[in-house]
Amino acid sequence: MQIKEAPYSKLCSSKNILTVNGQFPGPVLYANRGDTLNVNVQNGGSQNITIHWHGARQLRYPWSDGPAFITQCPIRPGTSFNQKLKLSNEEGTLWWHAHSDWSRATVHGVLIIRPANGTDYPFPKPAAEIPIILGEWWKSDVQEIVNEFVASGGDPKKSDAFLINGQPGDLYPCSRNDTFNLTVEKGKTYLLRMVNAVMNNLMFFSIANHELTVVGTDAAYVKPFKTNYITISPGQTIDVLLEANQNPDHYYMAARAYNSLNGVNFGNTTTTAIIQYRGNYTPSSPVLPSLPNSNDTNASFNFTSKFRSLADQKHPVNVPLNVTTNLLLTFSINTLPCEDESCSGAYGDRFAASVNNISFVLPNIDILEAYYKNIIGVYGDEFPSFPSLNFNFTGDSLPVKLLHPNRKTEVHILEYKTNVEIVLQGTSLLGGIDHPIHLHGYSFYVVGSGFGNFDKDKDPLKYNLVDPPFQNTIAVVKNGWAAIRFRADNPGVWFMHCHLERHVSWGMEMVFIVKNGMGAAEKLLPPPPDMPKC
Ligand code: C2O
Ligand code: CU
Repeated sequence: MQIKEAPYSKLCSSKNILTVNGQFPGPVLYANRGDTLNVNVQNGGSQNITIHWHGARQLRYPWSDGPAFITQCPIRPGTSFNQKLKLSNEEGTLWWHAHSDWSRATVHGVLIIRPANGTDYPFPKPAAEIPIILGEWWKSDVQEIVNEFVASGGDPKKSDAFLINGQPGDLYPCSRNDTFNLTVEKGKTYLLRMVNAVMNNLMFFSIANHELTVVGTDAAYVKPFKTNYITISPGQTIDVLLEANQNPDHYYMAARAYNSLNGVNFGNTTTTAIIQYRGNYTPSSPVLPSLPNSNDTNASFNFTSKFRSLADQKHPVNVPLNVTTNLLLTFSINTLPCEDESCSGAYGDRFAASVNNISFVLPNIDILEAYYKNIIGVYGDEFPSFPSLNFNFTGDSLPVKLLHPNRKTEVHILEYKTNVEIVLQGTSLLGGIDHPIHLHGYSFYVVGSGFGNFDKDKDPLKYNLVDPPFQNTIAVVKNGWAAIRFRADNPGVWFMHCHLERHVSWGMEMVFIVKNGMGAAEKLLPPPPDMPKC
């Protein structure tokens, strides 16, 4: 993979963007279940960068995982890094993206993982497989957007368009020819491999006149269910079957943002693509599908709650039943004092974000290296298992003094093979919003979720321990919670963060260190010789 700048123009405006091999979206990678891919990443751009394989377990090998200053120092311009993409039981759709600053806006692509040889999909083989990657586009340079909002302390400037496979679609100005077209044949079924690579929004997606059948998410199959729309979080992938069963004609597919917080200045626009049936006919002008309203929290939550694992002989569920380690993590939007009270965040302060009231500060050398080489002073190991302050997390008018987090670099240590349950709890500080939380190095079972404060006596009684979905990203609903479980059997340094990019910039992230086990096959593998240096 060659990182390089390339000129692109959309919405009657051109700029240079960072790409892989000059392509936007980047190239689709193909693998089979269980494969290891060797990828040489060459940085031919002019800024530091890293590449992350989102959702790949990277068993015992965090060295190639990618998040800057967590598992590696960035790849400097003019240098390269040989990365291993180590798959184990992932099967379906994942993706790869840059993992330093906001470069993932244009440096991303789909990763398709087919069944191992001799095995097959748990549904009839589709006529074709179509990657559908949702993106977000600013006319100005993305690094400028970052610099500007970091300096002002406020929200980032809203984007100018959303994209389907790199194209805004014909509802945007100057975009008549910038529309993705998908040709289908009546009577056939297509597998859409959907990825939300949008920077700052969950998305609603729908296709006019066509029902969709959801069959997978985050490279794990789910019990098929039919729906008229989907909600997809940044970071998440969803596999859907599209049956071409309508009259031959042209139909819109469309996506727009779901935003649950009043006052967030998001792009309230719709990106479209066109499904064209093959044949001889005069197409009518396509109609738009009906999408949920952009603030419809119930529509988003109801959809996200529908996922169930297959839980059959070939696709067993291994959800930990006896939990040995419990954590409760609160996810909050906060403020930090502004030098001269003139920042653009709430109350003239600057926006921040936190997990258990810690707003994460990236260190100067990566945590993995510091851990492996016992370099002290890089991070602390006292990230708390529970919030230090107990308050009504989702209450109506919370005292302003709760707004201010501590800025620290703390990690949470997990013993090898402990059975972990984490309750991810949103808070209503500054109003509350959905947080798509993503964990590196693991997929987890989502055993429960709901609105309001998690109730440790009542809510566990309603857990799904039979066929919970197996995901790497879960949208914690606005002013609600989600409970996840996993077995800590992958030693390493693993990042966990909100996948809304502005929240990451504000510090909504944390790090787990999973210790080695006793056996030789239970320890971190050694680093490759060409780890980038800081
Ligand atoms: Cu999709 Cu930490 O990343
Ligand atoms: Cu968030």
